[in-house]
Amino acid sequence: MKNIGIIGFGNMGEAFAAGLRNKFGSANFGVVEKVAARMEVAVGSYAARDFTGDFRGLLDFADVTIIAVKPQDAALVVRELGPYSKGRKFVAIVAGKPLAFYREYLKTPYLARCMPNIAAMYQKAAVGVCFPGAQGDVRKFEVFRGEVLDLVSAAGEAWEIPEGLMPVITGLSGSGIAYVFAFVHALAMGGVKAGLGYERSRDVAVRVLEGAAAVLRGTKDSPANLIAKVCSPAGTTVAGIEVLEEAAFTAAVMRAVGEAASRAEQMEGVQND
Ligand SMILES: NC(=O)c1ccc[n+]([C@@H]2O[C@H](COP(=O)([O-])OP(=O)(O)OC[C@H]3O[C@@H](n4cnc5c(N)ncnc54)[C@H](OP(=O)(O)O)[C@@H]3O)[C@@H](O)[C@H]2O)c1
Repeated sequence: MKNIGIIGFGNMGEAFAAGLRNKFGSANFGVVEKVAARMEVAVGSYAARDFTGDFRGLLDFADVTIIAVKPQDAALVVRELGPYSKGRKFVAIVAGKPLAFYREYLKTPYLARCMPNIAAMYQKAAVGVCFPGAQGDVRKFEVFRGEVLDLVSAAGEAWEIPEGLMPVITGLSGSGIAYVFAFVHALAMGGVKAGLGYERSRDVAVRVLEGAAAVLRGTKDSPANLIAKVCSPAGTTVAGIEVLEEAAFTAAVMRAVGEAASRAEQMEGVQND
């Protein structure tokens, strides 16, 4: 997998290029991008070849092509790819577009979908990946599956899941990272209210987040057990936990993930092309 095609060199297209370059130093990129300034970044910073207006050339060049345009642009792209797509390999990172959408236009069994989050920019995304059931030559499909898992892990950590669970990964990861940003902002504002400036308070809150992640990774304890460990009898932490529970913190976060997952499910049923 040396030659990677990328259609749409926005946030995600570039995040994958950066991750792939870090992971496989020798990757070559071929890019289709309609915004000139974005293409300048692709060419200037990633030595990409510009295939804009030449989907056939892109697919001849690429071992695997990543489709990274916004959902409303995806139909146009897959229609134009269709005539050159036979037997080609694709990974789509378009939210809300099911595998069936690509299968209608792309004449190939080698399709995969993934749902990362914006931490792909730092190769720290939690990525859900799904495939259609193996078709045609099973051995070749297994090679493709391995290539895709390798490719998406350049954006962070990848989990293969059935397609029916993609909306849950959207709620937990794609959208979930925004809920973590909301929590960090809230923590920082708490610091401000208690007398610390916002910048310092934000830096402390981010360090608390990193510390929490390190503890969670370093132990098999559940988060609930860790909360109990941090709460000393009649202490400061349990006083704060009571406030969070009175404000229905757990229920609110559960609902946020659930609402995002429902919205993703709804989008998968809508053809906005
Ligand atoms: N950003 C996230 O956190 C995130 C997380 C999970 C999944 N995703 C998915 O990743 C995909 C990309 O998101 P993004 O944030 O990277 O979007 P983005 O920054 O808008 O990048 C998409 C780029 O593709 C260009 N483009 C559109 N149609 C094109 C075409 N026909 N040919 C060539 N280039 C074209 C866009 O140009 P214009 O701006 O002119 O349209 C834009 O520069 C989306 O489908 C999104 O659902 C994003």
